[in-house]
Amino acid sequence: MATGVPRNKRASRLSYTLDYTGKMPRAEVLALQGEEPKEVELSSAMGKLYCGDNLSTMLWLREQPGVRRHVRCVYIDPPYATAMAFVDREANHAYEDHLDGAEYVEALRRRLIVLHDLLAEDGSIFVHLDQNMVFEAKIVMDEIFGRQNFRNFITRKKCNTKNYTRNNFGNIADHILFYAKSEQNVWHRPYDAWTDEKVVDEYPYIDKKSGRRYKKVPVHAPGIRRGETGRPWRGKLPPVGKHWQYPPAKLDAFDAAGEIYWSPNGNPRRKVFFDQSKGIPVQDIWMEFKDAHNQNILITGYPTEKNFELVSRLVAATTNPGDLVLDCYSGSGTTLEAAATLGRRFIGIDIAEAAINATVKRFLHGRSAMGDFVGVRGAKKRRKTSEPLFADL
Ligand SMILES: C[S@@+](CC[C@H](N)C(=O)[O-])C[C@H]1O[C@@H](n2cnc3c(N)ncnc32)[C@H](O)[C@@H]1O
Repeated sequence: MATGVPRNKRASRLSYTLDYTGKMPRAEVLALQGEEPKEVELSSAMGKLYCGDNLSTMLWLREQPGVRRHVRCVYIDPPYATAMAFVDREANHAYEDHLDGAEYVEALRRRLIVLHDLLAEDGSIFVHLDQNMVFEAKIVMDEIFGRQNFRNFITRKKCNTKNYTRNNFGNIADHILFYAKSEQNVWHRPYDAWTDEKVVDEYPYIDKKSGRRYKKVPVHAPGIRRGETGRPWRGKLPPVGKHWQYPPAKLDAFDAAGEIYWSPNGNPRRKVFFDQSKGIPVQDIWMEFKDAHNQNILITGYPTEKNFELVSRLVAATTNPGDLVLDCYSGSGTTLEAAATLGRRFIGIDIAEAAINATVKRFLHGRSAMGDFVGVRGAKKRRKTSEPLFADL
């Protein structure tokens, strides 16, 4: 295992930006004029749904009471620059995704600037993209949110294995960029449940006295300290280049409580007991949230609809009940339903009529099992048009 010792933080202070023609200064983006959008009637008292271009709508929302600096969580799943037109399960046109290159980046950047302005100081934002544009988006988000506020690059398995790729590896991953507005983002760490097999694997020892299951972890950490954690404890120095993780008094307390394991050659390790675990802390690779992957999964049938449980996890981790959640590319309303189900308020915005209809239907009738859509007319691709998706460009 590689052991790194922190040296200096100079690299993280160096800044760089993405440069391209048409990049509007931040202040000018925020000075753009918004327009009151059409509000759509929704059978939920938990939030509002607007039909219109999201940049113009968000600029208008900035001026409305209780929105600017009050949004605790943003989840967006914008078009991915796929150069495709999307239809729903019944072959109705949904939306076009044909912006590319700098035009795409600038359209997204402008929206991210306004989203940053709408977020509360302890708010968080998730931007869901695939390999096509996620790297450009990362640099743009570093610029807007600050590199220090980057939290995770989540990789999700989005679909089943692809067996027939020609000269590359099958692409089954997409990605979620997670940024906070500041150091103080609301955070409820999610946990997965233990399985018997994983418990035995992770906590292989049984404490002779108490019968409790435990694992052994080091009591030292990389880095040299000059204070008491760098000095001998029980006559032992920490290994070269390391320090004790706890002051001697704390280590004594652990030992007195039977929480230190002494190896036959006298090296201490800490016993961490299984019964103190809240579950398996969720990491940044997610395998269990494929979109519409089996006949029983509930969906609306809107194209590119995201997995409900995935979005629910993000909302639950970064908000408290009653908080305001915003999705300005809300599509079929996955984020809005996740927010409402968790007792959070929401604002949804989408420009496409099909998206608005899918959301209204979702709140009225819920989702249907994917299998129920089998038998409708097959999805047919609509000819690409040159209508701009982003009204400001
Ligand atoms: C990938 S889909 C979102 C799917 C959604 N996450 C769901 O679970 O159903 C992207 C959505 O962005 C919408 N959209 C694209 N450009 C927009 C704009 N300028 N303003 C508002 N919505 C926009 C499209 O109509 C489409 O519904």
